[in-house]
Amino acid sequence: MKKVWSVVAVAAMLCLVSSTTRAQDVANGEKVYKAKCASCHGPDGKGDTAAGKATKARDLCSADVKAETDAAWTDIIIKGKNKMPSYDKKITDAEVKDVIKYMRSLCK
Ligand code: HEC
Repeated sequence: MKKVWSVVAVAAMLCLVSSTTRAQDVANGEKVYKAKCASCHGPDGKGDTAAGKATKARDLCSADVKAETDAAWTDIIIKGKNKMPSYDKKITDAEVKDVIKYMRSLCK
């Protein structure tokens, strides 16, 4: 019986750890986004800012953009595309992952 409880305790702990890491990733992503991306993409991802309109940033929550995969987004963030600047070496791989998580969370 004791053994069962320790398995339950370990499982509960693992759940807790993975859910806090996830919240942390999104929080990191939010920092990067607000500092580097929101000027064009807007605080809500809609691109409804002066710079967003000038560069033609698209609504991240539109069906077309939402349908793009994380891999496609990673590519655009690293290499840039049209007026979207390249962030190669300007942000870390982990920051790219986190910022994508944050951007996805804007569209729920
Ligand atoms: C100078 C304005 C500007 C800044 C700053 C900017 N972007 Fe963009 N971004 C754009 C534009 C414009 C596009 C659309 C490119 C296209 O498809 O023509 C875009 C596209 C994207 C896309 C692909 C979605 C789509 O429209 O297909 C992602 C993902 C993205 N940006 C993430 C980021 C992240 C992350 C940052 C900050 C690290 C950032 N952007 C900063 C202008 C900007």
